[in-house]
Amino acid sequence: MIKMFIDGREIEAKENRTVLQTAKENGIRIPHLCYHPALKPSGSCKLCGVEVISPAGKLVVMLSCILKAKENLEIKTDSELVQAHRKKAFNNLLQMAPEADRIRHLAREWGVDVPPPPDGCIRCRLCIRVCNEIVKSKALKMVTDEKGTRVMPEPGRCIGCGTCANLCPTNLIQVKDQDGVRTVSIKENIIGQLPLERCEGCGTLYATENFLRHVENSLHSHPDTKDHHHLCSSCIKLLSNRAAAERKRIRK
Ligand code: SF4
Ligand code: FES
Repeated sequence: MIKMFIDGREIEAKENRTVLQTAKENGIRIPHLCYHPALKPSGSCKLCGVEVISPAGKLVVMLSCILKAKENLEIKTDSELVQAHRKKAFNNLLQMAPEADRIRHLAREWGVDVPPPPDGCIRCRLCIRVCNEIVKSKALKMVTDEKGTRVMPEPGRCIGCGTCANLCPTNLIQVKDQDGVRTVSIKENIIGQLPLERCEGCGTLYATENFLRHVENSLHSHPDTKDHHHLCSSCIKLLSNRAAAERKRIRK
């Protein structure tokens, strides 16, 4: 047996044990993630740092999953130096795996502030801007509360055009057509849920009633568009191809 000291407490360590193994065997907690009893240590996660005095008499942090227990070795598991090292290690891990529950939970347990997980929105406001400036529905807004700043729906304003979803660079806004209903949503929040209308040409469900009404009200100065807006894009294309062919035939 080897006599060593962890946080001032005298510990009996078995031969050929690391400091981390010795601490575990004595019920002393040191955070760790890449240690596995069946594998050789790799020192990758850096969470298991402990403070020791170097041969030159300096306080240094060493990885307890690699450091061997030695006679009269004195280590500290929670000094200021260790806390700073641990915080840096947790932040590195959280940068690589920001949504990993195990790391987030462990970091909180060890007093490290954990930022909210990224929600996939880059706050470019393209969705809000296009809805305000072009569609003019004002169905989205940026809100700031205790959960942070994020895009939220303005209830009852969405016309189900899907322009926001087309512009969103991160595909956070989804448009789903199912059972004759279009649902536009941002994460778990529904922006709009509206019935779909059938194309008068081919009968396909293709646009929401609110969108068609919106087009009708806003494009009154353009009679052609008004005439064709009850047709889906495939039927409009078919129609204009036919018209072009007819014009060509007349010119001959
Ligand atoms: S939801 Fe998409 S378009 Fe809207 S602000 Fe976030 S990233 Fe930009
Ligand atoms: S347990 Fe990961 S570096 Fe020691």
